[in-house]
Amino acid sequence: MRRWWLTIFIAIAVAGCAPVAALANDWGMGDSNSRIPPSSVFDSVSTPAHEINTLAFFVVSITTVIFLIVAGLLTYSIVRFRARPGDDGREPPQVYGSNPIEFAWTTVPVIIVLVLILITARTIYTVQAPARPPGALSVHVIAHQWWWEFRYPGLGIVTANELHVPLSDLQSPTPTFLDLESADVAHSFWVPRLAGKTDVIPNKKNSMWIDPHVAGTYLGQCGEYCGTEHAMMLLRVIVEPRADFDRWVAAEQQPPALDASVGHGRRVFESTACVNCHTIRGTAADGRFGPDLTHLMTRETIGAGVAMNTRDHLKVWVSDPRVMKPGALMPAMNLGDKDLDDLVAYLATLR
Ligand code: CUA
Repeated sequence: MRRWWLTIFIAIAVAGCAPVAALANDWGMGDSNSRIPPSSVFDSVSTPAHEINTLAFFVVSITTVIFLIVAGLLTYSIVRFRARPGDDGREPPQVYGSNPIEFAWTTVPVIIVLVLILITARTIYTVQAPARPPGALSVHVIAHQWWWEFRYPGLGIVTANELHVPLSDLQSPTPTFLDLESADVAHSFWVPRLAGKTDVIPNKKNSMWIDPHVAGTYLGQCGEYCGTEHAMMLLRVIVEPRADFDRWVAAEQQPPALDASVGHGRRVFESTACVNCHTIRGTAADGRFGPDLTHLMTRETIGAGVAMNTRDHLKVWVSDPRVMKPGALMPAMNLGDKDLDDLVAYLATLR
């Protein structure tokens, strides 16, 4: 049943997107995204998403049965008791004050509503999960126009747009708790296969949790209109077995290796406006307005999922981000050819 809906949904989505994809330069994103399973809410791999999914199917099933009974009786009455030639025009017999009937149509809906309230309350309780078990990972999510900042307070890591979390197996769960805040307008954090949407609001800390049971990459996006590039505020959650996650953490905690051959590119970076907005650990750059670039090349995408992270794309991006992402807040850097090449060569060493 679920697969059936999923197939129809994907067919409609693909049919709708195909002409657009054929026209636009997708900067290599189509190939990458096609290797990632569709981010369908019907295919949950984490407890909060699974709970919401189960509740939705339960409520839809009950309301469908009610709809079929009411619509069936209505249709039957309309057809069976329709006006016919030769009717005498009198009203049919009217029934008043039947206690059994009134009792039944009051009690049955009350019981149904009560069941829905209890099951919904239980789901809300599970999804909100107030207590953080020991061993849980905490990540601070900060939404910006139009990208995601991820800070791991216990680990001293800062990254952007691609969130790494450990796999949580059902025997020894290692869930991840996200505390979400916004630096500017209201956004919404949404990774359909892992959890429901959570609003990300300035001056208010919201929280949510995930416990992905299956390793892989999950696509997400901003779920609330937040300005020009709302549609290009994408994110990826990379779920890895614990050992791989620990290796990623250890690598992220190191500053990037110094490469003497790109000294000029590094000087270009440090002597332009780049340093006002970006951080690269081990350099003078400690800006907070844009993404932390310390380990830029470990990320698969740039511009919050607008392009694959290749040298050619980086060059286009640095020279004028608005070619890829109209409305992006990063200005065109207006560098000469040599400075641009050297700067990109330097960025390409940030592993
Ligand atoms: Cu951020 Cu929509």
